[in-house]
Amino acid sequence: MKLYGIGVGPGDPELLTLKAYKILKGVDMIVAPRSSEGKRSRALHTVEKIIKERDCIVVEPVFPMTKDRAKLKLYWKKAREEVLAKGNSCETVAFITLGDPSMYSTFYRFLEVFNDLVEELEVIPGVTSFSACTSTAQVPLVEGTEIVSIIPDVKAKNAMRVIESSDSLIFLKPKDLDKIRDMLGNEKAILCVKVGFEDQKLLGPVFTRAQYSF
Ligand SMILES: C[S@@+](CC[C@H](N)C(=O)[O-])C[C@H]1O[C@@H](n2cnc3c(N)ncnc32)[C@H](O)[C@@H]1O
Repeated sequence: MKLYGIGVGPGDPELLTLKAYKILKGVDMIVAPRSSEGKRSRALHTVEKIIKERDCIVVEPVFPMTKDRAKLKLYWKKAREEVLAKGNSCETVAFITLGDPSMYSTFYRFLEVFNDLVEELEVIPGVTSFSACTSTAQVPLVEGTEIVSIIPDVKAKNAMRVIESSDSLIFLKPKDLDKIRDMLGNEKAILCVKVGFEDQKLLGPVFTRAQYSF
């Protein structure tokens, strides 16, 4: 099969690239990861209108947000079975992911699990969540020779060292906002939630505790 790893952007369908749009119009099957059984894939929500206009197989395997390797292995096995059961004869498959496929996405894990079946591969970049955030907030992320760092988890081993040596910071999955506030001290911060979705929220440049408890 030919596998496409497609970044569908941060959530606003208009931020999908023309290349991604064209591929999604033609593939036999679309695989859209979701974090739990009860939830819909946000990547799928982004491309919903395009899919509605055509007839193709859609699979939404669950990839839970867990570090438990044994549990993950089980879910990957299930995902493989699900994809093969529904699309065994598919020649083209698109794995869609929010933002960009190289940025904290499950895409390269998916590729590992299906590697034996992939004859050809194409990866389509997408607008990242933080590009959408800075554009919505209308602020530069970095200028001149400034350094920007991405911190996916404030508990990461090097987080404090990276914070100290960066001019600008991106916190992804910012669960512990109190801790982030402590780490930043008096620095300005913008909190962007679900940018491009109907329930988008943008707070800042300085946000209070009451504002971000949602
Ligand atoms: C697993 S990472 C995936 C990042 C994605 N591949 C990218 O390129 O932006 C998911 C995190 O990205 C951030 N994110 C993704 N989409 C977003 C959006 N539309 N608005 C705000 N944050 C978003 C959130 O912090 C979320 O927890």
